[in-house]
Amino acid sequence: MLPMRRRLYIAFAATACSMLWMLVWRPEIVGFPKIRADWWPRQDTYIWRTVGQHYPLTSFRPLPTGKPKRLPAVQANFPPETAEGRETRLQRQGAIKDAFLRCWRTYKEHAWLHDEVTPISAQPKDNFGAWGATLVDSLDTLWIMGLRDEFNTAVDAVYNNITFANTTSTDPISVFETSIRFLGGLLSAYDLSGDRRLLSKARDVGDMLYKAFDTPSRLPVPKWDFHAAARGDKQSDPAQLLLAELGSHAMEFTRLSLLTNDPKYYETVARITDLLSETQMNTKVPGLWPTKVGITADTLDSGDEYTLGAEADSTFEYMAKMMALLGGQQPEYETMYSRSMDSAARHLFYRPLLPGNNGDILVSGTVRVNGHGTPKLETSAQHLSCFAGGMLALGGRLTANTTHIELAKKLTHGCIALYKAVPLGIMPEACRLTACPDDSTSCDWNAHQPETQTGTETIEARDNLPPGFTDMHARYYILRPEAIESVFVLYRVTADAALLDRGWEMWMAIDRATRTERGTNSAILDVHPGQGETPPPMSDSMESFWLSETLKYFYLLFSEPGVVSLDEWVLNTEAHPFRRLVPGR
Ligand SMILES: *[C@@H]1O[C@H](CO)[C@@H](O)[C@H](O)[C@H]1NC(C)=O
Ligand SMILES: *[C@@H]1O[C@H](CO)[C@@H](O)[C@H](O)[C@H]1NC(C)=O
Ligand SMILES: *[C@@H]1O[C@H](CO)[C@@H](O)[C@H](O)[C@H]1NC(C)=O
Repeated sequence: MLPMRRRLYIAFAATACSMLWMLVWRPEIVGFPKIRADWWPRQDTYIWRTVGQHYPLTSFRPLPTGKPKRLPAVQANFPPETAEGRETRLQRQGAIKDAFLRCWRTYKEHAWLHDEVTPISAQPKDNFGAWGATLVDSLDTLWIMGLRDEFNTAVDAVYNNITFANTTSTDPISVFETSIRFLGGLLSAYDLSGDRRLLSKARDVGDMLYKAFDTPSRLPVPKWDFHAAARGDKQSDPAQLLLAELGSHAMEFTRLSLLTNDPKYYETVARITDLLSETQMNTKVPGLWPTKVGITADTLDSGDEYTLGAEADSTFEYMAKMMALLGGQQPEYETMYSRSMDSAARHLFYRPLLPGNNGDILVSGTVRVNGHGTPKLETSAQHLSCFAGGMLALGGRLTANTTHIELAKKLTHGCIALYKAVPLGIMPEACRLTACPDDSTSCDWNAHQPETQTGTETIEARDNLPPGFTDMHARYYILRPEAIESVFVLYRVTADAALLDRGWEMWMAIDRATRTERGTNSAILDVHPGQGETPPPMSDSMESFWLSETLKYFYLLFSEPGVVSLDEWVLNTEAHPFRRLVPGR
């Protein structure tokens, strides 16, 4: 028999040893999801940590890990739910979850580990680097929908069967898409679940993408040659970038730095923020940056098109979202948000002349600047611009600007009206409209008919367009999320129950038009195919954002408002929720 004291020593040492073992190798077991990744033994054979940089960063600013501010609440106070309201809501939510499961299972069965499944022919498709885009993009949706077995299977597959050390793809890699889908998806699934395998993969993606910024300017190569970079070739500066390719890494790289305590990702995007901040008021449309940008402060304003839509969108979107993510610690994001929205309200937003509304809606168009430097508004509408309502609802709350909340309502209802204006119930990718005259307070369709009829009649006759449309230059709908995204955010901000019905009408129209015989959903080629052609022609494509964004926003609209509360989470442009820094956490 050992003496009591000796026995205690041994018991203590054994406990300490096993604790230490678990802490190092299986920290998730002992409930330590927050251990920093730099305490974790490094996989130093991973190619993107060994390949080296030709133009290394030499100084790093400190991470924004100070005191987050107490920002105004984003979400409204929701009144108690009636029994009837709850029943309807849960029925709707169930229908969305069923649709998700039908698509997910088709992917799992026919295209597991591939980027996409084709929804009609059920074939695998690799168009995003062949790293399982749909798998990674769906992780957090699986978690949020409570599909834990599916989530665990998916995480095992991501961890064991997907490597960012190589690719079978010979196409250039889109750095932007890889950042928002793969890095965003992994960070979010980690933030939600605390499973450290996801952070380890996120870091692998981050280190791969970091190499795409190894240029003299430290700006990214937008369409990146993975294999040349892996061989160690030097990379030259991009000649030009799309605005979205410049500014849309901010959230992902910042969150990765915060979680790993490695400042290099944050430094990379903070330099881009400096460039955007320095140039914002010196462009041809001060407050906005053009869709095509040069890579220095002097050449940045090289484009002549200004919009919140395609090629620009998420750079604007990320200003208010960075404010949310960092708890307002970097004031330049708030400044840039406010300046850009002032300018957008003045130059881009217009009241469309559409039947059945009295001018209480807005659409975000596109400004082109001619050779004389005069900006001219093109009264177009893009599905991609429909996120603007949600952006202004979030930003309006964070900056306590009620004008922005009013703009958010009008823009969101503008997209709802465009869905309704098409008989199929879905707005096209891009179209042109007529603006209500400036000098009139009324946008009454009937009152303005004589003025517009001559202009629109011939086009209507030729293209058989619905009333109000003067052109539909991109007639497809590829399962995009932006309209329901704004409906969801505005609902969380205002608690306006009518938005639940508007969202459900959108869902019914989308599901009716896009549901395949297999039960999946497919992109359609034409939202206005004309008589005798219903159902609309399909293109056998289902991008990963259908599972990551569109179905998630529909599901969250019909969830209790505390699920992914916008006071705790901020969603990246691929709808991946990141945990916000808030005081007292
Ligand atoms: C995934 O990885 C596991 C563990 O290495 C392996 O057993 C399995 O066969 C792999 N599955 C596929 C589909 O590659
Ligand atoms: C990547 O895979 C290709 C074949 O698919 C192979 O030729 C190449 O050597 C691999 N590269 C690395 C860095 O592993
Ligand atoms: C609110 O936003 C509008 C439009 O961007 C702007 O004109 C106004 O100055 C802002 N108000 C405040 C209090 O910041």
